[in-house]
Amino acid sequence: MLQLPERLRWDHNAWYRRWLLRQLPSGAGSALDVGCGLGALARSVDAREVTAIDASARMIERASATSDRVRWVHGDVLTHDLGRYDVVTAEASLHHLPLREGLARLAALTAPGGLLVVVGLYRLSTPADRAVEAFTLPANAVVGLAKAVRGTGGKPHDPEMPMVMTAPTLPEIRAAAAEIVPGARVRRRVFWRYSLVWRAPESL
Ligand SMILES: C[S@@+](CC[C@H](N)C(=O)[O-])C[C@H]1O[C@@H](n2cnc3c(N)ncnc32)[C@H](O)[C@@H]1O
Repeated sequence: MLQLPERLRWDHNAWYRRWLLRQLPSGAGSALDVGCGLGALARSVDAREVTAIDASARMIERASATSDRVRWVHGDVLTHDLGRYDVVTAEASLHHLPLREGLARLAALTAPGGLLVVVGLYRLSTPADRAVEAFTLPANAVVGLAKAVRGTGGKPHDPEMPMVMTAPTLPEIRAAAAEIVPGARVRRRVFWRYSLVWRAPESL
């Protein structure tokens, strides 16, 4: 990906956070945010009980200083003992996990009739990806410039936030979703993101 100069970089995850929150029912009973990082999404979820898990002790230490309303859990989502939740969210964290194992785990954490919403990163691999890239690169710069002018930009990534530079391709994500969460709606998004929305069957 072509890097913009520092002052034009902006947070694509925060951009999609508003969309992600709009997908969630208001006043859900329980919600789990997976790979919560500094907890911005978890703090905004409207549910009676919100749990947020992250494998980074430093992220949980910093997130837990920001809100008492969320139950902050330090652990690996793949192995930590967790319940089932009416709403499960994963913002920019599924690509930190092995795709199929991670998606199966997110599905297993979603209660019958519950909702799983993922906003994730994908790796360019197809001619369609390259075509979208021709639009994405200038759009990324224009949004960065507008945010810099308005002073609403800011650092895209906290220096302490764990990052991985690889992600599955969109065909890999669609194939895994068809198998593991059949019926899920997987959509390509601009700025190197995809969304996945899945309603768990009422009886599993
Ligand atoms: C790119 S950050 C995204 C953080 C946050 N969701 C956001 O959008 O700002 C990915 C997060 O996933 C966490 N993570 C990676 N592997 C994990 C695992 N196995 N279990 C729980 N969290 C994990 C990392 O520690 C990191 O905080």
